Amino acid sequence: MNEARGPGRGLLVEGAASIATVAGPLRRGSDQGDAAELSGGPLAVAAWDGRILAVGLAADVHRQIVAAGHALESFDRIDAAGGLVTPGLIDAHTHLVFGGTREAEWRMRSAGAGYLEILQAGGGILSTVAATRAASDDELLIGARRRLSTMLANGTTTAEAKSGYGLDVPTELGLLDIIRRLDREGPVELVPTYLGAHAIPGEYRDRPDGTDAYVASIIDEQLPLVAAQGIARFCDVFCETGVFSPDQTARILNAAAGHALRSRIHADELAPSGGAELAAELGCTSVDHLSAPSEAGIEALARAAPGARPVVATLLPATSWFLGRHHFAPARRLIDAGIPVALATDLNPGTSPTLSLPLVMSIACLEMGLTPSEALVAVTVNAAHSVGLGAEIGSIEAGKQADLVVWNVPNVTQIAYWLGASNVRAVIKRGRTVFERN
Ligand code: NIG
Ligand code: FE
Repeated sequence: MNEARGPGRGLLVEGAASIATVAGPLRRGSDQGDAAELSGGPLAVAAWDGRILAVGLAADVHRQIVAAGHALESFDRIDAAGGLVTPGLIDAHTHLVFGGTREAEWRMRSAGAGYLEILQAGGGILSTVAATRAASDDELLIGARRRLSTMLANGTTTAEAKSGYGLDVPTELGLLDIIRRLDREGPVELVPTYLGAHAIPGEYRDRPDGTDAYVASIIDEQLPLVAAQGIARFCDVFCETGVFSPDQTARILNAAAGHALRSRIHADELAPSGGAELAAELGCTSVDHLSAPSEAGIEALARAAPGARPVVATLLPATSWFLGRHHFAPARRLIDAGIPVALATDLNPGTSPTLSLPLVMSIACLEMGLTPSEALVAVTVNAAHSVGLGAEIGSIEAGKQADLVVWNVPNVTQIAYWLGASNVRAVIKRGRTVFERN
């Protein structure tokens, strides 16, 4: 998909006032805010055959195009009009495919009902499971496609996408298949995650051994079939008191590793339950939420942080905001402890109905004390590592996939400063212009 062909093989973005390349490795500690920004001259980015060819001063970029044996005139051109260029944004945690919406539950929570109480009573995630099981594949596909087109217009070029609203074999496999179809369709690239362990489905709830029986069905029935279907790259578990325990989470993720699935965890979202500790112990690719990690959990992640493969802390501030708890992840503590931080939307109908990473960046700056540059790093290079694609995407460097956003603002700070605004001028995926605002 998305292979540029014929006369459109070369693309030149010119007239940028500044380019935040975010070039270099995963960021942690005092490097979290290093967006590797270029400024001070007419700047350009060139792509050839879907990959970055050169970035820097326009005259140097032109020379490199010619040195690579290409004719400058044959390149398609995009005028950045004095704006900023960044890597395409990466949404490292979404529940993209679901049926129905949950605005009534949102109002109940505003009136005082608890998120887990609603789930225990068979609502919450389980009401979306019912709506998802009742929806046709086409309805699910069309809804997710519509959401993706808004995400793209907000600068998202890659998104992780979880199953998890099926909780039975046919629906979980079907959701992963929809994710595969949407990825093939493009232009937003999807990283598929199997999340059968999102909640205990109704069929198991009335049994005394319900949770263990469902864990057994995930390990013995669902995982082998998910692996045989060959779509999922990650396995995720909602590790939280009253949902899946650290022990059950470890059993599921160890079984998933046996099927070559990498792991990520919804951990310590509402209360500390050992999720961060477990993510450090298992060496998960990402540990997500962390609104309420224990001290021991932070220390365990910090011990792994200097290594070649630290666990990325993927924080979801829009969820804390929408849950109305004003209980944000201790982002500054995590950064100061040297733990690499990514940010994501957590797009889902219950706790985070947003399609905008720029809005998530704004909330992270306002409520968690990130700087705008730290927030940009968190949705580019660190997010790329959170989804296991650090070698391919997340920065503007020769050889990487040419995924770019051209902004109608001149600097990184203004991405987060304009609250809820649509300041994306153009989006480029694999060297092709896939969105342009008139
Ligand atoms: O990341 N906490 C678990 N999963 C989602 C919410 C899903 C839902 O409420 O439908 C989350 O917040
Ligand atoms: Fe989530």
